[in-house]
Amino acid sequence: MSKKILFPQIKGLLHGSDYNPDQWLDRPDILEKDIELMKKAKMTSMSVGIFAWAAYEPSEGEFHMDWLKNIMDKLYENGIYTILATPSGARPAWLDEKYPECMRVNADDHRAHHGFRHNHCMSSPKFREKTGIIINKIIDTVGDHPGLAMWHISNEFGGECFCPLCKKKFQDYLADKFDHDINKLNKAWWTSFWSHTYNDFSQIEPPYANGEFSIMGLNLEWKRFTTWNTTDYMKSEIEILKRRTPNIPVTTNFMQLFPGLDYRVMAKELDVISWDSYPFFHNNYETFADTMARSSFDHAVMRSMKKDQPYMLMESAPGLANWHRYNKLKRPGVHKLFSAQAIGCGSDTVQYFQWRKSRGAFEQFHGAVVDHLGTDDTRIFKEVAKVGEMLDNLSKVKGTLVKPKAALLFDWDNMWAIENMRGLSDETKNYPQTCADIYHEFLKLGIDMNVVASDDNLDDYNVVVAPMLYMLRPGTADNLKKFVKRGGQLLATYLTGYVDDNTLCFLGGFPGNGLSELFGLISEEIDTLYDCDINSATFTNGNKAKIHDYAEILRVSDADVIARYDSDFYAGTPVVTRKTYGDGKSYYVAARLDMNTMSELFKTMLEETETPYYVLPDGIEYHKREDENGDTIEFYLNVTDKELSFSTISGDKLTLEPYGVKIF
Ligand code: GLA
Ligand code: GLA
Repeated sequence: MSKKILFPQIKGLLHGSDYNPDQWLDRPDILEKDIELMKKAKMTSMSVGIFAWAAYEPSEGEFHMDWLKNIMDKLYENGIYTILATPSGARPAWLDEKYPECMRVNADDHRAHHGFRHNHCMSSPKFREKTGIIINKIIDTVGDHPGLAMWHISNEFGGECFCPLCKKKFQDYLADKFDHDINKLNKAWWTSFWSHTYNDFSQIEPPYANGEFSIMGLNLEWKRFTTWNTTDYMKSEIEILKRRTPNIPVTTNFMQLFPGLDYRVMAKELDVISWDSYPFFHNNYETFADTMARSSFDHAVMRSMKKDQPYMLMESAPGLANWHRYNKLKRPGVHKLFSAQAIGCGSDTVQYFQWRKSRGAFEQFHGAVVDHLGTDDTRIFKEVAKVGEMLDNLSKVKGTLVKPKAALLFDWDNMWAIENMRGLSDETKNYPQTCADIYHEFLKLGIDMNVVASDDNLDDYNVVVAPMLYMLRPGTADNLKKFVKRGGQLLATYLTGYVDDNTLCFLGGFPGNGLSELFGLISEEIDTLYDCDINSATFTNGNKAKIHDYAEILRVSDADVIARYDSDFYAGTPVVTRKTYGDGKSYYVAARLDMNTMSELFKTMLEETETPYYVLPDGIEYHKREDENGDTIEFYLNVTDKELSFSTISGDKLTLEPYGVKIF
């Protein structure tokens, strides 16, 4: 496959920022100064107009578009490209006043008042009509501008609406999904429970706070509907953009494993994946290396949505955020480290929120490249300029890819189903964190993992870990069997294969849908442990493992038992098993084991598939990108505040300053 270059116009990697000139239109001196400072910081793009609707259309049908063209001209003349937003992230007051249907209704059935942002009814025909008009005006003005590099659709989609329009759309969506057969839905949702059987699709309501939220199938489908409806809205914008500017790529900015939307569904409609990253650096509950590892995991989620091309870090805070529980400054050096991590994980951009601090309102104290001080000699500005320098010199990295041999399975609807199931402990389910912790163990072995869906093609991978795969989609069991049969090593855990994609339990033993054959066992019960409950496991080689939170009791029929429980009434029964299946092996880990033990299992799986790994020194993070000829670019990151000296994977001596970075 030939390389996909995201921004061929730019020599190095893109260095950009959200830029809100619409807040400074009465200050030409500031706008002038911005350009001068942007060049000093080696900025190559600006994301413009994200919340500029009121500046474009101050009252209904009255358009002021000239400022946009002027700004884009200025930027372009100075070598800076524009990533232009559609302004549907926030609504002007006149719109809400005249068309209240654009404002969302919450789960208590109350319509919102005008204000805030990201809170539109995605079903409202009026909202679609009005965003369509303003988008067309923008295209009329700058659709053929040479500086236009990309469309940024709206901003950080999210949230649910319970209005009558959404309710009706939900009913129509369900009727389509269940072939207009209400009994099909009743069966799939087990509505005979508590006499909740429906006679007609028109009786079904969204899960209002004082309504129906006891049907797991309904709750799950509501989440899927919200994704579907948000995507449907997003497509209404994309349709206009693609029709009128077919050569300009489109993206929208995602947020980590945002629980409200299945990003993989939305990703299919986008040309490029981009996301916003705001790690809680230097917090009081984990090490800095842990924070970095979680950030790297989030990058992997984004990378894996379009793994054959680079993605974008659309936003990050140059200094601090203003909405964390504690808004801590990034320590000197961390900005470059964090930016290098993004590139190492496969991003071809580093971008910020925002260029210049606003004077007032909600984000006046949010970090920005240019402070209220307004000069180029601040610590933050200088650190940003250093990153600009680094990106300018990384043109060789452009279009190269991270190509992991290991993958972690994560499904959004599995996350929803686990959160929503009544059972276990809501305090310790921790599905996303469990995934991130496993990712972290591989990271310590110098292995980047992709984070993929359970029904994705697994041909590229030697090792797959599928933690807590509670819900099996229709193709998942076969997909996993195929993977192991052809020589893959698979590890699954407690809570695998309990329910189908409507959340109906499988009958005849978990894991269901034929998956028990792959592991050679059935899980009969699951125990939830208090944190004072002590249990452990002993492996056949004598090694011990600690157990916390969850412990399943197994009936093993056709697998090697490699560890057994030490205590409780299930002492002596199997906890870790391994089965040869086709040319591969399947592991089942029936309890939540300590991560050191998990790491030993991962090492065995890597060794058996001849996948090279390297136990990195504590405090060192490593990533690798490759071009189509197999040439590599390696990233060593010191994720501590101490100087570290160590041997690289190829055996060279390397010393990294605190938070230091070396790119080979
Ligand atoms: C109550 C109800 C039952 C059932 C149980 C579950 O006792 O009467 O219908 O819901 O709780 O614990
Ligand atoms: C999000 C939004 C931005 C800004 C930042 C602040 O990422 O997209 O508009 O509000 O948060 O951290």
